[in-house]
Amino acid sequence: MNAPDPVNVADFERLAAERLEPGPLGYFAGGAGDERTLRDNVEAFGRWRLRPRMLVDVSKASAATTVLGCEVSMPVLVAPVAIQCMAHADGETGMARAAAAAGTAMCVSSFSTTSPRDVAAAAEGAPRWLQLYCFRDEGVTRALVDEAEEHGYGAIAVTVDAPFAGRRERDLRTEFVVPEDITVPALAQAVGSDRPMTIFEAFGLLDPSLSWRDLERLVASSPLPVLVKGVLTSEDARLAVEHGAAGVVVSNHGGRQLDGVAASIDALPEVAEELGGDGEVYMDGGVRRGTDVLVALALGARAVLVGRPALWGLACGGEEGARRVLQLLRDEVQLALALSGCASPADITREHVQRVRS
Ligand SMILES: Cc1cc2nc3c(=O)[nH]c(=O)nc-3n(C[C@H](O)[C@H](O)[C@H](O)COP(=O)(O)O)c2cc1C
Repeated sequence: MNAPDPVNVADFERLAAERLEPGPLGYFAGGAGDERTLRDNVEAFGRWRLRPRMLVDVSKASAATTVLGCEVSMPVLVAPVAIQCMAHADGETGMARAAAAAGTAMCVSSFSTTSPRDVAAAAEGAPRWLQLYCFRDEGVTRALVDEAEEHGYGAIAVTVDAPFAGRRERDLRTEFVVPEDITVPALAQAVGSDRPMTIFEAFGLLDPSLSWRDLERLVASSPLPVLVKGVLTSEDARLAVEHGAAGVVVSNHGGRQLDGVAASIDALPEVAEELGGDGEVYMDGGVRRGTDVLVALALGARAVLVGRPALWGLACGGEEGARRVLQLLRDEVQLALALSGCASPADITREHVQRVRS
């Protein structure tokens, strides 16, 4: 008998794990150290309960919202995830089309297996952001930013939590290297060839001396709004906007960098309270359900990003699989909104959630 069709993100995750080889699976699924933060990202949502309101007209409930002024069908965007061709041959272009079909924005990784220009061409007119890693070779960084500006990217999300790669022990155990037949254009430019390399070597090409002054320079040098991705404290959120960022992404890189930091959803309230409207607040890490999205919005996020969920869809069925995951998340968000007595994401307030007493 055939396995039943996947109906939720967990089903896609199980199927993807069956399909992927141990090396790529460990790279995609794994986290740093003892993977405490990786697990906590998901489990932390279980420490919140929804407080739905009744007898609200939700006959026209919609998940649509705006991100940095751009309309999207739901407060769920596609997080930057590297080397997507390793999950499925459709890779980043398939993911871009899937996001466009679902009416939402994709953030393209600096470690994409397709150049920002070609990802843009795959889904013309769709909203998209570029995730920026700052390379030791400033020419590589500048080329990425120039390409984003030229090809209709709406924002740059500069990742600040990865001066070095986290201690990803699954990759050490499988001796994971990016397969020979897969090229990451920015990495190839940085080393002048497309030789295979480990993830640790790839991160070694990034500039660990990056500071707030560099953020200020980036903001000044680009007409695009800049988001700072990887903020976990109120202090850094304040510094980000003081140095010109349009907002922040509360993120621990999906538990892949510093193990032992707070789950993203637990770090979100202090950041949202600190900024109180000075810049947009996004979060990612552990979002697996429409109800998780509601919790994040109630705690101050404008939208969330999903990394692995969309990737599991891609691994299971290429562009179509990723589209199905995004569509099911949209359906779940829309239903959760309506059942909570909210006609739109803007109606969700802090009063719609409470933390479980421990
Ligand atoms: C396989 C993989 C590759 C990633 N690559 C990048 C990347 O290139 N740049 C980046 O800023 N974040 C990267 N991330 C982190 C994601 O953008 C995001 O923060 C994280 O996946 C969110 O957690 P989730 O997977 O639980 O949704 C990656 C995450 C995964 C799982």
